[in-house]
Amino acid sequence: MPSLIELRDVWYQYNPNSPLSYWALKGIDLKIERGEFISIIGPTGSGKSTLIQHFNGLLKPTKGEVIVDGIEISKTKDLKALRKKVGMVFQYPETQIFSETIYDELAFGLRNYGYSEDEIKERVEDVVKKLGIEYIPLDKSPFLLSGGEMRRVAIASVLAMEPEVFVLDEPLANLDPQGRRELLKEIDYLNRKESLTVIIVSHDLSEVSKYADRIIVLFDGTILMDGPPREIFKNVEKLLEISLGVPQIVELLYTLYKKGADIPYNILDLDEAVRVIVKWRRSLGNRDKLRTIPTT
Ligand SMILES: Nc1ncnc2c1ncn2[C@@H]1O[C@H](COP(=O)(O)OP(=O)(O)OP(=O)(O)O)[C@@H](O)[C@H]1O
Ligand SMILES: [Mg+2]
Repeated sequence: MPSLIELRDVWYQYNPNSPLSYWALKGIDLKIERGEFISIIGPTGSGKSTLIQHFNGLLKPTKGEVIVDGIEISKTKDLKALRKKVGMVFQYPETQIFSETIYDELAFGLRNYGYSEDEIKERVEDVVKKLGIEYIPLDKSPFLLSGGEMRRVAIASVLAMEPEVFVLDEPLANLDPQGRRELLKEIDYLNRKESLTVIIVSHDLSEVSKYADRIIVLFDGTILMDGPPREIFKNVEKLLEISLGVPQIVELLYTLYKKGADIPYNILDLDEAVRVIVKWRRSLGNRDKLRTIPTT
């Protein structure tokens, strides 16, 4: 079976043949498999949004090939099928929203694909619950919503289409910490229980590393790192050097390590951090003044 998404030596140039021309992607090779939960991380301007817009044919490579489910997107005429397969929530939700009511916004894609009004109603009710926005009247204008609510509506409208791949460009901006946790949990649930392939773009490794099973670090239009979070965190020095957010606990353990502590720092969560600190502290025995760190 072909990979769900494959990029072969993809280059992308904005404004070709003009003084403003700019190579935003420089030779990307990438395979994404069904069911993965991937996070694409990179500093501002590294090419994240440019990259993901290749996944549903919004941008076509200047050089190289993008193949989705065995079909090369530069050759297909059926962009409608491709867009249904690869659902995308853009970085700025206000650019995605245009209907007069929230209901129409959520129903728009479904109407476009010829679903019956009964089925549309059912799906709209379902996504509204999933995204926790059932308290908002559906006849309200989406433009009256707060930034976080607008983002949820944008996300819900894409989810209503039941895509195979769900691509979200910085979905956590505008959400408060609880909203971020809830959204990530919901997406994680869809990934695990409904086999949705998830690709989340972010600046910050601390938000997504708990859920993503693979992290792709972009830098200056190229893939700098690609691997499970634990492998990526081994390069914490490099990540900090290119201004990426890493979990504070990883940074803390790395600082201890640099000061000579025999301690791993590529850990994934607070519980694991506590375990490695307790183990390290025990290994010091009574010789070290640092034993004042509590063990429970
Ligand atoms: N329409 C455009 N015309 C010219 N250059 C562009 C255009 N869009 C993006 N670029 C340039 O391409 C590079 C990559 O942009 P892109 O939006 O993909 O970055 P990003 O990683 O998503 O950044 P951010 O984290 O700020 O969203 C940037 O240097 C940007 O200035
Ligand atoms: Mg972007």
